[in-house]
Amino acid sequence: MAYNVFSRGAILLLAASLHMAAGQYYKIGTRAEILESARTLAYDLMLLYEGNKTGMIPGILPGPPDDGKGDYYWWEGGAMMGTYIDYWHLTGDDSYNHVITEGMLHQTGPGNNYMPPNHTASLGNDDQGFWGMSAMLAAEVKFPDPPQDKPQWLALAQAVFNTQAASDRHDETCNGGLRWQVPVTNIGYDYKNTIANGCFFNLGARLARYTQNETYAQWATETFDWLWNVHYIDHESWSVYDGGHVKHNCTDINKAQFSYNIALLLQGSAFMYNYTNGETIWQERVQMMLNSTLRDFFPNNTAYEVPCEGRQGACSTDMLSFKGYVHRWLSVVAQIAPFTKDTIDPVLRTSTQAAVNQCTGGATGRKCGFYWSSGQFVDPSVDGTTGAGEQMNVLAAVSSLLRGETESPTTNQTGGTSKGDYGAGKLRPIGPGDRAGAAIVTFLILAGALGMFGWMSWDLGG
Ligand SMILES: *[C@@H]1O[C@H](CO)[C@@H](O)[C@H](O)[C@H]1NC(C)=O
Ligand SMILES: *[C@@H]1O[C@H](CO)[C@@H](O)[C@H](O)[C@H]1NC(C)=O
Ligand SMILES: *[C@@H]1O[C@H](CO)[C@@H](O)[C@H](O)[C@H]1NC(C)=O
Ligand SMILES: *[C@@H]1O[C@H](CO)[C@@H](O)[C@H](O)[C@H]1NC(C)=O
Ligand SMILES: *[C@@H]1O[C@H](CO)[C@@H](O)[C@H](O)[C@H]1NC(C)=O
Ligand SMILES: *[C@@H]1O[C@H](CO)[C@@H](O)[C@H](O)[C@H]1NC(C)=O
Ligand SMILES: *[C@@H]1O[C@H](CO)[C@@H](O)[C@H](O)[C@H]1NC(C)=O
Ligand SMILES: *[C@@H]1O[C@H](CO)[C@@H](O)[C@H](O)[C@H]1NC(C)=O
Repeated sequence: MAYNVFSRGAILLLAASLHMAAGQYYKIGTRAEILESARTLAYDLMLLYEGNKTGMIPGILPGPPDDGKGDYYWWEGGAMMGTYIDYWHLTGDDSYNHVITEGMLHQTGPGNNYMPPNHTASLGNDDQGFWGMSAMLAAEVKFPDPPQDKPQWLALAQAVFNTQAASDRHDETCNGGLRWQVPVTNIGYDYKNTIANGCFFNLGARLARYTQNETYAQWATETFDWLWNVHYIDHESWSVYDGGHVKHNCTDINKAQFSYNIALLLQGSAFMYNYTNGETIWQERVQMMLNSTLRDFFPNNTAYEVPCEGRQGACSTDMLSFKGYVHRWLSVVAQIAPFTKDTIDPVLRTSTQAAVNQCTGGATGRKCGFYWSSGQFVDPSVDGTTGAGEQMNVLAAVSSLLRGETESPTTNQTGGTSKGDYGAGKLRPIGPGDRAGAAIVTFLILAGALGMFGWMSWDLGG
């Protein structure tokens, strides 16, 4: 008995040390190592995508959860498309371009504005915005243009912007700003939040720089000013909060801080800084939000999702994908606001090293988890997902190390070839049938979310 216990312990110990020795699958020391690591990470992530299999829907990760089809909401497919657009731009590997083009074009919906009727039930301005930002990225990095009879990247980005700038998305509550949800009967329509306005701001700033059309810059500036005036951006600390409700004039601020909110505002501000040839006000905003981002989300220079990472299982599927966007967006900030480069680059490198250190899981010994700071692989199933977000984060971090060696986002003046359409994206009215189903489903989602936020507030307070 004693002997057995001892030898079992010894075998476990041996297994653990072998695992450690075999660990560290990914290396990022040289350009060749980064390319090789990114290639394998991209391959493994694609195994979780079923959109190019017969009978499956191009553009989306398995989901949405409300239909019992998988863990992932519609928007995350758009975010993944963007990650692969960047992957191609940063590494030159075009292996997935056909899959990405197919996905990007399949999800445009009948109005060619990323409002497909299938996803009305979860259609927030932010969800639509993520697809729009991926289209914008495709234009900026000269991702191969779609066939001429298909909508073009720039026009798709403009279409998303146009639907969000339209009067039916704006009202006087809280002195302006976009609501979270688009359909009036979606739960969350009464919430005006940072992510919805942040996507609109970011897209406006980038369209301004790409087209040199001042109208976009005016919208971006007004949107930033609104976020500032409702104090979603803290006037002292430059922390960025989640949002508030219209019935309280947006003063009941949910102070949860998510990394993607501030990173989105930071990147948009860097585009405005670049568009305005270095205006002081945008320089200051970039400086202050960069400082706040690194202070709050990079303890020990490693990406950390503050509101939920401290307890395994507390981050939602959405939140498990934020670190990757933060790495991608910060690496662009370093390019277009070069005064930040010396601050940003070393942090992203340290953080990426921590990211790859924990990719030691699964049968391959190279599956990635979420807990970068811990250095330990934690299986994504602990967080209730198959791991697309976790894998995408690391792919984004590793490939973004190459940003400095690649061309900065282009514009209409500097080599961009994507064709625009100022009239793109007329809003398709949402039918009454879409609404009833949407409200019920979204109520369930929100009830879950509120439960979680309740817990989080308690945890933060305690
Ligand atoms: C889906 O795309 C991946 C990556 O290009 C490829 O390996 C796979 O064979 C494709 N599947 C189908 C059914 O086309
Ligand atoms: C909408 O759902 C149907 C049925 O699942 C599917 O065939 C179609 O491809 C989906 N459309 C989009 C744009 O995803
Ligand atoms: C609502 O808040 C804004 C600042 O965001 C303020 O200017 C306005 O006066 C407030 N309105 C009401 C009715 O309190
Ligand atoms: C942020 O600003 C404070 C005060 O100016 C400074 O002490 C600190 O070093 C800055 N942190 C970063 C990460 O830039
Ligand atoms: C704008 O971005 C370009 C490309 O990276 C860079 O060369 C230029 O210096 C930037 N402008 C400013 C004002 O920093
Ligand atoms: C940062 O490093 C310190 C010292 O090693 C450690 O105590 C702390 O837990 C780390 N922070 C995080 C978020 O991992
Ligand atoms: C740049 O924009 C102008 C004005 O919209 C347009 O005429 C021109 O074709 C665009 N250039 C390219 C390369 O798309
Ligand atoms: C600038 O953009 C706005 C908004 O889309 C559009 O209405 C306007 O025609 C554009 N101006 C020019 C000169 O192309």
